[in-house]
Amino acid sequence: MIVVTGATGTVGSKVVVGLRERGEAVRALVRAGSPGPAEWDDAVERVAADFSDPASLDAALAGADAVYLLVAVHPEMAAHERNVIDAAVRTGRRPRIVLHAAAGVEQRPEGVRFVGAHVSGLDHLRASGLPWTVVAPNGFHQNVLGMAAGVRAGTLAAPGGEGAVSYVDARDVAAAAVEVLATEGHEGAVYTLTGPEALSHDALAERLAAVAGRPVAYTALAPEAALAGMLDAGWDQWRAEGMVELYGLYAAGYAAAVSPDVEKLTGRPARSFAEFAAEHAAAFAG
Ligand SMILES: NC(=O)c1ccc[n+]([C@@H]2O[C@H](COP(=O)([O-])OP(=O)(O)OC[C@H]3O[C@@H](n4cnc5c(N)ncnc54)[C@H](OP(=O)(O)O)[C@@H]3O)[C@@H](O)[C@H]2O)c1
Repeated sequence: MIVVTGATGTVGSKVVVGLRERGEAVRALVRAGSPGPAEWDDAVERVAADFSDPASLDAALAGADAVYLLVAVHPEMAAHERNVIDAAVRTGRRPRIVLHAAAGVEQRPEGVRFVGAHVSGLDHLRASGLPWTVVAPNGFHQNVLGMAAGVRAGTLAAPGGEGAVSYVDARDVAAAAVEVLATEGHEGAVYTLTGPEALSHDALAERLAAVAGRPVAYTALAPEAALAGMLDAGWDQWRAEGMVELYGLYAAGYAAAVSPDVEKLTGRPARSFAEFAAEHAAAFAG
């Protein structure tokens, strides 16, 4: 039986569906009172648990053969990863852990809190003695949906400088994760999941303009201006600072590598940003 954490989110919800399509027995970790997405079939076992509550994690992981360990972006996300790993150790069954981390986790960049949390989780996992695999995605295409209002007004504004990013579609991340969970032979592997090409934010704006049917220009924000904008928009300080750190990594060119791992795992080419933008043309055109 495969336990999926973060199961109601962007990637996890699709991992659950993909595993059920392969006939796997799936237990999905949900918050108390959540029925889970409508796209799940009745055979998905729902279990209420919280990353900050070890007893609930013990119940959620009992009997697990494998765990998809995906935690949300949160100030305690490193502790949340450790809590799930510790609960997996306590099962006494040595379940295989597939850690959903972030591209760059192996390079251990300094001062990028989201990636740093996964570095700490991976260190804890290695020390646990459990069998492990890492899926390490780059930024998701889907993040751009959160900027759709700006795009409709003609601007893609971000503190990404001139750096190119090989953004990946969250559906491809889920499909790759399903392959890793449902098949053997992945122990100790770190799969870097990217899209098929690295695009500057100017190039992203061009592709958005093409589907919106009107001009869209990239505005490279200074980090301070980006932070102020996110705080004005109601983001909490920790998360907003983390986004600025991440964009700093993008601006410095560290997210530009293109990996063959999506295609290697899924047997299909990774979706391009242009395909994603076309599917969501209505959101970007208004
Ligand atoms: N976005 C990117 O570009 C990107 C790129 C690379 C890596 N990542 C990594 O991907 C992960 C986020 O994936 P995602 O976008 O699929 O996540 P998401 O859509 O934000 O979903 C987060 C999931 O975690 C659950 N959750 C939150 N707090 C919880 C708690 N305290 N206890 C139990 N469950 C809890 C949420 O449940 P509810 O639905 O009930 O809130 C939801 O199922 C992060 O680890 C991030 O570092 C993201």
